[in-house]
Amino acid sequence: MGEFRWVLGIESSCDETAVAILEDGKTLAADLVASQISLHQAYGGVVPEIASRRHMETVSLLTEQALTAAGLRPADLDGVAVAKGPGLVGALLVGLNFAKGLAYRLGLPFLGVNHMEGHIYANWLGGEDIPFPLLGLIVSGGHTALLLLEGHGRYRLLGQTRDDAAGEAYDKVARAMGLGYPGGPLIDQLAVTGDASAWPLPQPRLRDDPWGFSFSGLKSAALRLMEQAAARGEAIPPADLAAAFQKAVVDNLTAKTLAAAAAYRVDRILLAGGVAANLGLRERLGEACGARGLELYAPAPRYCTDNAAMIACAGYHRLRAGQRDGWDLNADPALGMVDM
Ligand code: KG4
Ligand code: ZN
Repeated sequence: MGEFRWVLGIESSCDETAVAILEDGKTLAADLVASQISLHQAYGGVVPEIASRRHMETVSLLTEQALTAAGLRPADLDGVAVAKGPGLVGALLVGLNFAKGLAYRLGLPFLGVNHMEGHIYANWLGGEDIPFPLLGLIVSGGHTALLLLEGHGRYRLLGQTRDDAAGEAYDKVARAMGLGYPGGPLIDQLAVTGDASAWPLPQPRLRDDPWGFSFSGLKSAALRLMEQAAARGEAIPPADLAAAFQKAVVDNLTAKTLAAAAAYRVDRILLAGGVAANLGLRERLGEACGARGLELYAPAPRYCTDNAAMIACAGYHRLRAGQRDGWDLNADPALGMVDM
């Protein structure tokens, strides 16, 4: 039973309001996610004003429900952690201000967590001992990056995307295909039945930046293929296009990750972020790691996409290390990958 036995985590950076209570940094006593996806679907993407308003309507009730689910009173909590950025500023502020108010009222240690660090810490849920150093591949809707994880809270950014993030490219291609939002899981499902070699797409190439990523060219190539087919009065079978796009993304992510692991002599890979839920990526990277004797860590798919358990987990590790934030902490919509 540690000093931070019960940590409450709050996440509101995009289109999910989430509250979790984590016991001793590893056991989930409550884990609630109120998805807003159906609210935004009609617009084909997240509408920031609608997101903020729904967070406001939801966060307090969800916190009460989390306490009830955990069988705790507010006074039982030992700390409060909240996502402080990156994300939509209005959405972030709702969670941040609520968390501040709660921590202030209860006199609890309070900490803002980088949402991307939260994604990384989804790997520690469940209490597995994961030794450092690790090569981190972080793939979400807003970020794609390779990091060298040297210890708790010690990250070196090796490279990141120059343009679209992997998840963003998935969402844009899915939107052009008329599949809906969010597109990543829909393309992932469709790809299973498609033929990736029927309409091959080019591998993204980046000169002079071995650990950088670029997905906008690949996205444009997919859209061009569709337009050219339409101009001929044809349609590319959606499953084939999904499979071709997924193969190009997954091959690129896998090749860069393995090359970076070899260059930095790291034999453990850590996968995180919404796109880490992708079945094709998990399978391909799993095989490639297996063939080279590398250990692969990935959160359960449900903890790859946005949730509050990961925020509570990252918060737990930092609170335990003595870190605190003041009541003047502000949301930072553009917080960088290694600005923790
Ligand atoms: O990490 P996340 O929940 O939010 C951000 O921090 O951005 O990531 C959301 C992104 C979306 O672009 C979504 O389409 C993508 O993750 N995603 C997937 C899958 N599940 C979610 N992309 C590919 N395959 C999936 N199965
Ligand atoms: Zn996220």
